Amino acid sequence: MRVLGIETSCDDTGIAIYDSKKGLLINEVYNQRNLHNMYGGVVPELASREHMTAMIFLLKKIFKNKSIAECIDIIAYTAGPGLVGSLLVGATFACSLGLSLNKPVLPVHHMEAHLLSPMLNFKSIKFPFIALLVSGKHTQIIGAYKFGKYEILGNCLDDAAGEAFDKTAKLLGLKYPGGAELSKLACNGIEDYCYFPRPMIHHPSLNFSFSGLKTFAAQKINKCNQSIQEKANIARAFENAVIDVLLIKTKKALKKQKWKRLVIAGGVSANHNLREKSKKMVKKYFNGTVFYSSPEFCTDNGAMIAYLGFLRHKEAKKPQLEILVKPKWSINDLFF
Ligand SMILES: Nc1ncnc2c1ncn2[C@@H]1O[C@H](COP(=O)(O)OP(=O)(O)OP(=O)(O)O)[C@@H](O)[C@H]1O
Ligand SMILES: [Mg+2]
Repeated sequence: MRVLGIETSCDDTGIAIYDSKKGLLINEVYNQRNLHNMYGGVVPELASREHMTAMIFLLKKIFKNKSIAECIDIIAYTAGPGLVGSLLVGATFACSLGLSLNKPVLPVHHMEAHLLSPMLNFKSIKFPFIALLVSGKHTQIIGAYKFGKYEILGNCLDDAAGEAFDKTAKLLGLKYPGGAELSKLACNGIEDYCYFPRPMIHHPSLNFSFSGLKTFAAQKINKCNQSIQEKANIARAFENAVIDVLLIKTKKALKKQKWKRLVIAGGVSANHNLREKSKKMVKKYFNGTVFYSSPEFCTDNGAMIAYLGFLRHKEAKKPQLEILVKPKWSINDLFF
């Protein structure tokens, strides 16, 4: 069975084909970065329009002169959470394609797709596990009991980790989205040059708050001599603070649930230091294992949508007949 996955929740247009026997066959992502970079962040109206053009372009590139109907069996698309206009483009496109080709269409949850994306690399990941979801708009600690049953144990109260990376990167003069660039800059920073606070580490909840770090970074940057070295030092201190907070809370969650498996997913899970430090933490305190995907599956992509569509279809749930978008949709409330 082959699943066509369509992802348009924000500013990446992703189309992929997942084969139940052979695995991932195709994974194409069109990144709108250059378009939004000049505004310093995503402009929702422009993102939706760009998805419309990119979708046709990618589809033609993938299928060329082949019959789409013969290449795929079902279609899965991101129904939420995300930007309503962007979601509508993908949902309308997927449902129209399904109707014209007479193929079943399945709406899927974007964050569940992120959460399960490491399974594209490691099929053997077993439930239950703790998932640290760190992306552009989410920072969540999830108890993953079994496929489709998740509990949010911790959430971000303001800026998500990726958002904090992007905003601090902007203050450092880096391009949008600056998370990866900030991390590169941080590699040249001097360890312990300055110290950033670790917000909410003493709070009993597993919640996060990162917006204060961006203000703290703004003050440090204003006072520094604007040299590349000083900016690198600040980037390093910022990155260390975010990772420390993420791992302190994740450690508490693993301890609370008495579990040994950790999955980290979402764009920020591409961060090298987060990967290294989480591996050490889980080994040292739990003698456990950390799973994360290869970098192309960390940020938004169609592969994770196609894979989740395959899993949902296996569960023999009814395909959806209406065009469904849910811009605000908690992973606690999957309706399948
Ligand atoms: N190496 C890295 N270090 C830190 N942050 C990174 C790195 N690579 C990517 N990011 C960040 O990941 C984020 C993008 O991730 P993703 O595509 O999962 O988010 P999103 O889809 O916009 O948000 P959501 O999934 O919450 O709806 C950006 O904020 C980006 O800066
Ligand atoms: Mg995402």
